[in-house]
Amino acid sequence: MQKTDARLGRIVRLLMSHATVVVSETKIAEEIGISRSEVWRLVQQLRALGVSIGGHTATGYRLQAVPDLLLPDVLSPLVQGTIFDNQIHHYYKIGSTNTVAMEAGNAGAPEGSVFLAERQIAGRGRGAHNWYSAQSAGIYCSVVLRPALPPSEALILSLAAGLAVHSAIQAIAPAVAVDLKWPNDVLIRGKKIAGILTEMNSEATRVRYIVIGIGINVNQTIFPSELQRTATSLRLATGTEWSRVEVCTALLKSLNREYRDLLQKPGAHDLILRRFQERSSSTRGCQVQVEENGGFEGVTEGLDQRGFLQVRTAHGIRTVLSGTVRAK
Ligand code: BTN
Repeated sequence: MQKTDARLGRIVRLLMSHATVVVSETKIAEEIGISRSEVWRLVQQLRALGVSIGGHTATGYRLQAVPDLLLPDVLSPLVQGTIFDNQIHHYYKIGSTNTVAMEAGNAGAPEGSVFLAERQIAGRGRGAHNWYSAQSAGIYCSVVLRPALPPSEALILSLAAGLAVHSAIQAIAPAVAVDLKWPNDVLIRGKKIAGILTEMNSEATRVRYIVIGIGINVNQTIFPSELQRTATSLRLATGTEWSRVEVCTALLKSLNREYRDLLQKPGAHDLILRRFQERSSSTRGCQVQVEENGGFEGVTEGLDQRGFLQVRTAHGIRTVLSGTVRAK
């Protein structure tokens, strides 16, 4: 699937920087270095993608509303100073951003490469689940990281990504109570608003690259029937529409902060474990059913030193390695 034509983003940025005036086709053509007929064609493409542009060839063009597309030209200036600056790749339609990011990691993509899509047609969740990825309603984002860490630290990094999503949502909508569910579901009032799929390529002792894939439900007003009981969006939870550009900016900034702290701060590993447990209502004292090794049930007893969930069962403490944990 094709990466978004970078000239679309440049036109949007040019129109945004002249938000209140009409910009002539000639000026756009000169600034971008393309012909006038190409400008016309690209403006038609932007309109088809839902960008509201007024005017025509004779008068010039004007943005009628700030577009909420996750274009590199729009996002990059907002994440300056992070590892993601100037490393953003955008797709209108993609199979899965995680698949593309894993392929890019394999081909040598630098740390901090970000893959964003307006829509995924094969979005993947943990286990065998799909990730519902409606057009321009959520954030579908995968980042490539190359930490100098052993593979055993990948779980801690994944928990840190959960903390990053938690603080991004909290920063955008401070009135909303956000909860974490091990290993990294993000919930509002018990319903899932975001999920994280961490995948890696490693040697026995060394990570080659890790892809952190994050899906956040932002402006969905409806979910397929099988998800209606368990999924929510920021819009459903708050009653208002949100700027995905703002949510995505907050996400990349907090991810940058969590990652930098994990690599540089003394005691970061323990701090992540502690903060995760503080922000999760279910890692301790919660009656759960675990779908792993034939299934078992018990009461959660916090995280162990490696980040795995501990459950007290009738036969003693058991460690949940990867199974689905459901509250009973
Ligand atoms: C889960 O909760 O099961 C994890 C969901 C992860 C979804 C995101 S959306 C962006 C990235 N691309 C994918 O195919 N999956 C992740």
